[in-house]
Amino acid sequence: TKILPAVETTTPVEREMEKEAPSKLPIKSIPGSYGIPFISPIRDRLDFYYFQGQDAYFQSRVDKYGSTVVRLNVPPGPFMASDPKVVAVLDAKSFQVLFDVSKVEKKNVFTGTYMPSTALTGGFRVCSYLDPSEPNHAKVKQLLFNLLASRKSHVIPAFRTNFATLFETMEAQIDAYGKADFNKLNDDTSFEFIGEAYFGVLPSASGLGTTGPAKATKWLLFQLAPLTSVGLPKIVEEVFLHTFPLPPCLAKSDYKALYEYFSTAAKPVLDAAVTLGLSKGEACHNLLFATVFNSYGGMKVMLPGILRWLATADPSLHARLAQEIRSAVAAAGGKVTLSAVEEMELTKSVVYEALRMDPPVKFQYGKAKKDLIIESHDAAYQVKRGEMLFGYQPLATRDERVFANAGEFVADRFVGKEGKKLLKYVVWSNGPETESTSVWNKQCAGKDLVVLVGRLMLVELFLRYDTFTAEVGTQLLGIQVNFTSLTKSSPTS
Ligand code: HEM
Repeated sequence: TKILPAVETTTPVEREMEKEAPSKLPIKSIPGSYGIPFISPIRDRLDFYYFQGQDAYFQSRVDKYGSTVVRLNVPPGPFMASDPKVVAVLDAKSFQVLFDVSKVEKKNVFTGTYMPSTALTGGFRVCSYLDPSEPNHAKVKQLLFNLLASRKSHVIPAFRTNFATLFETMEAQIDAYGKADFNKLNDDTSFEFIGEAYFGVLPSASGLGTTGPAKATKWLLFQLAPLTSVGLPKIVEEVFLHTFPLPPCLAKSDYKALYEYFSTAAKPVLDAAVTLGLSKGEACHNLLFATVFNSYGGMKVMLPGILRWLATADPSLHARLAQEIRSAVAAAGGKVTLSAVEEMELTKSVVYEALRMDPPVKFQYGKAKKDLIIESHDAAYQVKRGEMLFGYQPLATRDERVFANAGEFVADRFVGKEGKKLLKYVVWSNGPETESTSVWNKQCAGKDLVVLVGRLMLVELFLRYDTFTAEVGTQLLGIQVNFTSLTKSSPTS
């Protein structure tokens, strides 16, 4: 497993020069409707959150218009977003247009049709909101690549110590109360793990104490509120979450406390940022965002998302994973090493399959940089320059035209030569799993680290336990997992 991206073989300019072949598919006009301005976007938002739910909201429109490329409104709509109208790309083929930065502009579209106030990020537009054509994009992304590369050897030890404590706490809670809330423990543990892995300083040992995860979650909510439903009465959510932004000043003191941690713990990284042409302030706000929003926010959603599939899988899968993980670790002299993890074919496949079934970041956006032709499996569509393109990723990664039994969790889907060929359609990182993140694209800077963390969670789990049971539900940002039993690893296995 690499944590550093591979070197690209072609530059964006060379790729731009590779002329596209004209589409052989029939060119059709894009079906769908935006309805009555102002009224329909609000009505659609209610369908999205309350009456239909996300999957049905998009699938019903695909069914109605008989097309996977369709015009529709996306939430939040008025007054949060000035324009909710998008061209939705909802199959594995048309979705790919969102990764081509010569075709789509990724400026200010990280959260979609609205952008949170930069008062929440120290007055800066941080990396996730920058298009690769903006000079600071490459500088900040390079800073993150350098940080991850320099801390490569710390990831596995930091993960193992922090998650060993998590599992011990879960055992104690199951003994005492009959169950353990994985999400709560994961929030605290992931926050500690990331701080230790990236900067060598446990947040709990800093001025933050144990308040980091709560402060981080509040700050995330101020940015993501327009896209969430927290279970309050609809009218309350509509007014306070979906119509007007939460005032950034109410998260100011939390942000300040988080910032203090970074300005101290990340001092050597900030000094190095200056040589890349970044000010220490801009670098620090970016480190905070990449660590707290991208990394912590990502792990908060991803790890319960992976466990959910294991909790509901055939128990024989647990036995097969335990066997694979233990024999690879034994062959590496009893150590969990990057190369031992690389040998774990089934473990790797399970993580990819969970990311395919449940991509942790479900929405992707990009504005057409020029007039474009977008191809689905069946037809080609003309899009005008400036139109907003939107992808709902679960429909692209559950596309039956690419994956057999696409709606089912198939643990060994990506095992073997044939299985690996499908990896190009696993796109959780905002790009194909077979491609590398770089300063020229918008693929997740933490791509290789993220899949490693998913694998390490399975390694830790099945080194310690033969099997487990858990209740699976839903919560604010995704899946809730409560463990109800952990069966200790038997000495014979
Ligand atoms: C971008 C997902 C963890 C850093 C992205 C994007 C996605 C994503 C989907 C693209 C968003 C868009 O432009 O539409 C995830 C998930 C994670 C995760 C699911 C964890 C489970 C991380 C980590 C880092 C990171 C650990 C650490 C450095 C970034 C950065 C960008 C990004 C800097 C912006 C890239 C650019 O501007 O070129 N991530 N991410 N992410 N991610 Fe991650």
